[in-house]
Amino acid sequence: MQKLTYKNYAAMSRAAADIVVATVKAKPNTVLGLPTGSTPIGLYAELVKDYKAGKVDFSKVTTFNLDEYVGLDVKHEQSYRRFMQEQLFDHININPSNTHIPSGTAKDLNKAAKEFEVKLKESGGVDLFVLGIGTNGHIGFNEPAAGMPAYTHVVGLAEETIKVNADKFFGGDMEAVPKTAVSMGLATIMQAKKIILLSSGESKNDAIAKIESEILTLDCPGTVLHMHRDVTLLVS
Ligand code: F6R
Repeated sequence: MQKLTYKNYAAMSRAAADIVVATVKAKPNTVLGLPTGSTPIGLYAELVKDYKAGKVDFSKVTTFNLDEYVGLDVKHEQSYRRFMQEQLFDHININPSNTHIPSGTAKDLNKAAKEFEVKLKESGGVDLFVLGIGTNGHIGFNEPAAGMPAYTHVVGLAEETIKVNADKFFGGDMEAVPKTAVSMGLATIMQAKKIILLSSGESKNDAIAKIESEILTLDCPGTVLHMHRDVTLLVS
């Protein structure tokens, strides 16, 4: 595992964009794994800038997002589909049918999660995964627990995650935050060829310190990234 430290959020976002752009240039039909949340907003803005400046072509790129809230319609202002459309997909030349986000509204969520895994496999697998990290060390919505499903599954959100997301995205209203989500599992994530994890701000210090301690524990799911051979932490 490598760690790169940046002087601020803007520099980290630019560095992440450089990695994504270089990957897409080297392989135009790159499969990207993508996060939502506050951390990748700067990265997505840089990618939109690069696209508008003619520096990158997303026409053959495929994307798979980590997770989606259960019960929020795709048009809901806090759905992760809407987030991705507004932050990235609506502003670049990606083929909409190449963008995949787990369904949080399917009648049979477990069946939809299995179909999502099949699509991911059929795509050839993720070339570059961009991750964020929760204050409690979660990646995707794989919350600290004694055990968890390996692949895409329905999951209950930790109290801490509900609180953090309420404050950041739901005007502080914990009741408004869905209590369950569909998330890729740790094994889904670990099958990516290359992983970069972005972390910004002091609230993540504890999770990053646990990863750096090199002790593997599902109490801090991000620590399992040590079992992958090509992970870079980008920290600001
Ligand atoms: C988002 C996701 C989460 C976030 C994490 C950090 O798709 O899977 O693991 O990456 O909660 O969120 P922010 O970036 O808002 O601090």
